[in-house]
Amino acid sequence: MDQDGVWGTGRGGGVDLRADVPHPARMYDYYLGGKDNFPADREAAERALAANPEFRTTARANRAFLQRAVRHVAGQGIDQFLDIGTGIPTAGNTHEIAQLVNPAARVVYVDNDPIVLTHARALMAGMGLGRTAVLQADLRSPAAILAAPEVGELLDLDRPVALVLAAVLHFLPDEDEPALVLKTLIDALAPGSHLILSHGTADFIPDEIRDRVTGVYDRATAPLVGRSRAEVRTLLDGLEVLEPGVVTVPLWRPDADPDEAAHRVSMYGAVARKP
Ligand SMILES: C[S@@+](CC[C@H](N)C(=O)[O-])C[C@H]1O[C@@H](n2cnc3c(N)ncnc32)[C@H](O)[C@@H]1O
Repeated sequence: MDQDGVWGTGRGGGVDLRADVPHPARMYDYYLGGKDNFPADREAAERALAANPEFRTTARANRAFLQRAVRHVAGQGIDQFLDIGTGIPTAGNTHEIAQLVNPAARVVYVDNDPIVLTHARALMAGMGLGRTAVLQADLRSPAAILAAPEVGELLDLDRPVALVLAAVLHFLPDEDEPALVLKTLIDALAPGSHLILSHGTADFIPDEIRDRVTGVYDRATAPLVGRSRAEVRTLLDGLEVLEPGVVTVPLWRPDADPDEAAHRVSMYGAVARKP
């Protein structure tokens, strides 16, 4: 799958990439048409697509939401981003969009999947401007993320930060306490900070399809937990939710008129401000 054959063995730079187990990051790369995935990822992604062929559209709509939201927040003067659950770099990554608006914008990327780090570090190496860093850490340990040297060196937490949690919180089942994880992160940020959130939902699909998709992810490295619109809204309690509120991702400040299907895309998006 790669240029030098290293990842084909399932190991890269001494890191075990677990090629035999489907990884959400690589399945998502496959939905987006990327090449950074293994047969196990492709087979699992095809099973998810067989259950719900709209996964691909949803992934693309989520990326477009992320880009519009980053552009908006950067346009509000926010010049520091903490993007957790980064994903394998693809077109229009957070730093590219933010630095188009403000070339001095700083971004710390965090992901727990080693393959994401391998790719992201390669991408950043070419930039070498000290404005972007990549950290391997787990969202379930938010205090460790906040205490990481990369965060301390690049971000000034006394000034507003944009926390980006795009299509990642749905990998935390209730027992991982996603609301507490979010609160720990938000509490550490200055007033005026923003949260860019997108979150998978099963609100628009029959239970039988939801169960088939969930079954695919149960055999991957992280389970997928769709949440209802009300549950996603509850995660934003205490924050000022920007218009148009919690909506399916294509409906969040679209660049063009959304079609009818946009109302049933299985991913909610919202941007909220810490008062
Ligand atoms: C669906 S991708 C989303 C990528 C990107 N944020 C986007 O919206 O296009 C989810 C990413 O979250 C990462 N992830 C899943 N669980 C995580 C965790 N507990 N801690 C950190 N990253 C996690 C996966 O490795 C994957 O790269």
